[in-house]
Amino acid sequence: MTPNHRGNFGSKLGAILAAAGSAVGLGNIWRFPYETGEHGGAAFILVYIGCVLLFGVPIMIAEFSIGRRSHANTARAFQKLAPGTPWRWVGRMGVLTGFLILGYYSVVAGWTLEYIVEAATNSFAGKGADDFIASFSQFTAHPWRPIVWMAAFLLATHFIVVKGVEKGIEKSAKIMMPALFILLLILAGCAVSLPGGGEGLEFLLKPDFSKVNGSVLLGAMGQAFFSLSIGMGCLCTYASYFRDDTNLPKTAFNVAIIDTSVAVLSGFIIFPAAFSVGILPDTGPGLVFVTLPNVFQQAFGNLPWLAVILSVMFYVLLALAALTSTISLHEVATAYLHEEFKLTRGKAARVVTAGCIVLGVLCSLSLGVGKEYTIAGMTLFDLFDFVTAKIMLPLGGFFIALFTGWYLDKRILREEISNRGTLKVQIYRLLVFLLKFIAPIGIAFIFINELGWL
Ligand code: PFF
Repeated sequence: MTPNHRGNFGSKLGAILAAAGSAVGLGNIWRFPYETGEHGGAAFILVYIGCVLLFGVPIMIAEFSIGRRSHANTARAFQKLAPGTPWRWVGRMGVLTGFLILGYYSVVAGWTLEYIVEAATNSFAGKGADDFIASFSQFTAHPWRPIVWMAAFLLATHFIVVKGVEKGIEKSAKIMMPALFILLLILAGCAVSLPGGGEGLEFLLKPDFSKVNGSVLLGAMGQAFFSLSIGMGCLCTYASYFRDDTNLPKTAFNVAIIDTSVAVLSGFIIFPAAFSVGILPDTGPGLVFVTLPNVFQQAFGNLPWLAVILSVMFYVLLALAALTSTISLHEVATAYLHEEFKLTRGKAARVVTAGCIVLGVLCSLSLGVGKEYTIAGMTLFDLFDFVTAKIMLPLGGFFIALFTGWYLDKRILREEISNRGTLKVQIYRLLVFLLKFIAPIGIAFIFINELGWL
């Protein structure tokens, strides 16, 4: 397949929205709050922002450059830019990482569908925090209900991916992102005005640096990679569909700003709301699912119709945000199988969907009937999350930084970030410095410090 036959994002805004669509997802609204809660609040957020600036943005620009230059799937991209070298394994590891993430991510994405139905049937009415906690754990432990939703979600992703790049991804991102943002703002307004919400704000805004240890650093770094969709060639694959006049550094900054704002904004919803009803911030993966129904109940309890409308809207938008992320995860593996193994796009997508359904079933069961089977003290669901977000993505990012910082001809990097000399780029030297030294040394330090096995 020649570059000319590959799809393209129709506009510059489309490129930004598609990349932002990949970045903004469950990572911001589900994973960010519970990681922040488990790691002590404000100080974690500051470390997180540091990771976004020092590792995230430079690595995102690097991925964009690799992808657009090579016009190929992740694995082929490295092969094209570094023929005959082991660098292609970075791309291959990315494909595997994406596949594993999609396996457990679609389980959580499936939960959002269940919550749409619950919100629409007004089943939050009259319940309190304990009821929400009980019904969440009952639902997630159910042997088949979450599996049906997970499979439904993967099938929806499948059909959009098969339809191709432009029509599917771009359109959904354009409508969904602004709507989601507005709704989050409304909910944050409601949450901070709940009685007792001030304690939640304090948790978010008053950093206690004595809490920063190796696990906080690893958690924040992993969250930055996960949330920005970097470290596995996902944005590299998307950039292979970018046009020549897409401004790569600017796109990366915009995506990082949008992504971080959505994450912090969800913090402003979840923590005031959690503190106000006595839900502990370190509740874990259920945090958002047990906290939000309370917000709808407490803030709009005497206007039930408004509670229903807003809660349905929220879960629909959350599902759509997850969908634009699952599409990007799916696309990485589909483009790889399609271009490397000469499968049709449809067949490649079917292989990926089927494989992910198998992983999804296992991950979902590991929260219920398979709870006893743990590896290193973790359920399969937690293990997938830990290994992908905290090890594989940062490791991928480490190699991408080394590749662009040290191996890649600097002429290529300069041409890509300046659109072949047509843009003035002031950050070039800083970018190279961050990619050469700061990102690899920083990532290695955090690994050695916490995992101790490098
Ligand atoms: N960034 C997505 C989120 O925050 O929900 C998850 C994700 C998508 C991670 C794509 C990695 C990726 F390549």
